[in-house]
Amino acid sequence: MSLDPLRTICEDPLERKWVWLSLIMAFVMGGLLGFYALSSNIHPPSNVETIDSSRLHLSEEFAEDNLGVKRNDDGSLTVTLVAARYGFYPPRIEVPVDTPVTFRIASADVLHGVHVPFTNMATMIVPGYISEVTTTFPRTGEFSLLCNEYCGLGHDSMWSRLVVVPESAGGESS
Ligand code: CUA
Repeated sequence: MSLDPLRTICEDPLERKWVWLSLIMAFVMGGLLGFYALSSNIHPPSNVETIDSSRLHLSEEFAEDNLGVKRNDDGSLTVTLVAARYGFYPPRIEVPVDTPVTFRIASADVLHGVHVPFTNMATMIVPGYISEVTTTFPRTGEFSLLCNEYCGLGHDSMWSRLVVVPESAGGESS
């Protein structure tokens, strides 16, 4: 009587070795994903809010005049952005360091993504949905908001500027 639980479904010892090997590899890779997600503070998307992408300009929140950085009563910031071929609007946003920032982003056309290198700010921007990410930037400096989902010929040049300024400077967009 063998202890190998695969014995009942597979006779060949060599085949059982390969099955074990692939099971172990799958668990190691799954474990690494989990470890990386936890240690880098990466969260799965959890916000489901729908919006009509073709009528963003008629919505209250994503109308052109209402985009950009807003300070909430509790001191946190909300950044409202529209992603459209080929840019993020407004094209330059400024947020203070060490302050919780909630990004709310909607696509005006096709699937886009957003990623700020060297931070944990990254999400897909699916047309028809509002993408929401909350993060805090621990370092001051100039960062790029890059599109990381292929969205057409101008995908490579779809980016805008995120400036993280010292706390006292406040936040704004232009
Ligand atoms: Cu937008 Cu690629």
